[in-house]
Amino acid sequence: MSDTAVEKQSFARYKSNNTIEDGDLVVIYLSRENMSIIRVKYGEYFNCKFGVYKHADMIGLEYGTKLGSNTGRGFLYLLYPTPELWTLVLPHRTQILYIADISFVMNFLNLKPGMSMIESGTGSGSFSHSIVRTIAPTGHLYTFEYHQERVNAARKEFELHGLSDMVTLQCRDVCKDGFDLEDKVDAAFLDLPAPWEAVASAKRAFKQNKIGKICTFSPCIEQISRTVTALNEQGFVDIQMYECLIRFNEIRVIPMWTIDEAMERQRAVEKKRKRAQPRATRDRKDNTPIEQQQQQQQQQQQQQEQEQENNNEENEEGSSKNKNKSAKVEASVDDNNLSSATATPASISASETDEEASATPLASSTPTTASEATLASSSTSSAASASGTTPWAITQEAEPRDKIDPKNVVVTRLPVEQRGHTSYLMFATFTPVVQQTTAAKV
Ligand SMILES: C[S@@+](CC[C@H](N)C(=O)[O-])C[C@H]1O[C@@H](n2cnc3c(N)ncnc32)[C@H](O)[C@@H]1O
Repeated sequence: MSDTAVEKQSFARYKSNNTIEDGDLVVIYLSRENMSIIRVKYGEYFNCKFGVYKHADMIGLEYGTKLGSNTGRGFLYLLYPTPELWTLVLPHRTQILYIADISFVMNFLNLKPGMSMIESGTGSGSFSHSIVRTIAPTGHLYTFEYHQERVNAARKEFELHGLSDMVTLQCRDVCKDGFDLEDKVDAAFLDLPAPWEAVASAKRAFKQNKIGKICTFSPCIEQISRTVTALNEQGFVDIQMYECLIRFNEIRVIPMWTIDEAMERQRAVEKKRKRAQPRATRDRKDNTPIEQQQQQQQQQQQQQEQEQENNNEENEEGSSKNKNKSAKVEASVDDNNLSSATATPASISASETDEEASATPLASSTPTTASEATLASSSTSSAASASGTTPWAITQEAEPRDKIDPKNVVVTRLPVEQRGHTSYLMFATFTPVVQQTTAAKV
């Protein structure tokens, strides 16, 4: 391209100069949950909670720039519009496919640059953008939608996003009228309420001398059942079904204390608890004199038990200190984090934030020698992998001491499932008809 030629922005590739120009699309990233897309124009403004941004100030900047607001209250990032980001900011006209399903489907369809594919329905064009970027620059997407307004909106977007050359969009009921394509495509994707009605026509659209892949996307198992029947009837093979669920893995750094430090903290927590207790009881006005008396007796008893326990702890501490001076203690940032961390002889859990925690820090037997002490996981995230049994348990490995950061430990945690069932993904393979010959008789 010559220096003077204006490079048209496309979702199918990055701009070679990576620079925001007048008329370009920019994804404004405030946070993972707060993104929007704008077309940059001289004289226009973008308003957000951090203040007002002049579009003119964005022109000439590189994509990826972090831009502070005029109020100094915050900043945003100016990102290049990719299919992944488009999926997060597009105007919804229908339910759409998200990245987990998109990437899974594209991989299982073996999509590559130069391939041809059919898709129906087009819907909001979320998947179409990713397909086109993958099959570009020489591939082609034939996409079908029977809802005229959705067709118009998608057509406009493909044009504005520099994808029209690689897309043929038709307003058509593919279940009734088929795709009207023969011997043309390598793959097919059906996101329709009745995909089984389009299977026979999809079969005719496949390149007849090549192996091809089809995927249908259906939320209900009844749809799957009817589609399997249709796929079998049409001679598709290798029929498989998947479901794509997402679970994020959170990584946190938490402090590690020595036994002495942990006990010190535990004592402080206990002291606070004791100080707070009588006040809480006093504040209750609805107690009868008998209840008050019982509570006082209970408190006295608890106090005595606690004092006894503290004395015992001090004694034990003295002896364990001598036996195992360098044993480490795990301590959780919050109760959810570590309270069920896999116990090893030297692993001791103590709650940091929950000051009412009543568990004593010695969750397991005190190690007797330094060599018995299995230290909690190392400070590298790779060593702290999630265990299969408890979702956020730490895999504890015996590590040479000198490798371990004495103060921090990295844990991974699997929060509850982020996204439930969306749809079943059904894959099948189209195989060319191979002529059968009989071996010549000798
Ligand atoms: C769930 S949406 C597709 C969403 C799309 N995969 C995306 O990622 O944006 C399903 C679309 O199929 C269209 N549709 C349903 N039956 C159809 C048919 N027989 N022929 C063509 N389009 C159809 C609907 O109008 C709807 O827009």
